[in-house]
Amino acid sequence: MSRKKVGVLISGRGSNMSALIEASKNPDYPAEIVGVLSNKAAAPGLLAAQENGIATTSLAQSKFPSREMFEDTMTLVLESWEVDYVCLAGFMRILGEDFVLRWQGRMINIHPSLLPAYKGLDTHTRVIADGGTEHGCSVHFVTPGLDEGPVILQARVPVLPGDTPETLSARVLVEEHKIYPKALAMLTRGEVSL
Ligand code: GRF
Repeated sequence: MSRKKVGVLISGRGSNMSALIEASKNPDYPAEIVGVLSNKAAAPGLLAAQENGIATTSLAQSKFPSREMFEDTMTLVLESWEVDYVCLAGFMRILGEDFVLRWQGRMINIHPSLLPAYKGLDTHTRVIADGGTEHGCSVHFVTPGLDEGPVILQARVPVLPGDTPETLSARVLVEEHKIYPKALAMLTRGEVSL
């Protein structure tokens, strides 16, 4: 079986990236993580990737004259790794249309809500403020509209009395780490397409 090559884009902790790396240690897993790119040089996830022998690069958008040039450079890096697919894993930058269309159908994201509910940031805080009783996470295709691409997999968790954004996000994160590797496997096996 030839495994599909995957690049992961991060900005921080990289726990979802680590879940993908762990899944890919199984030789039967259909994808391998070949490179991790961060827009923050200090992202802890970069070290975790390096400890697993995975190539890493960091690119600061502020060093580029335009977002387009920054994103074109990200594409060059991903192409240098010969990636077939791209996973966004806590990549905290809105991507421009050229970049999104370049990878459309081959780029997925994990978002901490039951999309289409709670697109954008601070989802846990907003769910609690609204008195919601259910929350969760979604893996979806990346399309030009923010958090709008078709959902591949979701997981649900209850919102419990006394939850804080921290306790709720921890409960959701456990599920993120399960559904992201599953969704990437479905995509790279050709079981889902945009
Ligand atoms: C996760 O909650 C993910 O859903 C969101 O950003 C967070 C990233 O966490 N997109 P990590 O860097 O994967 O630990």
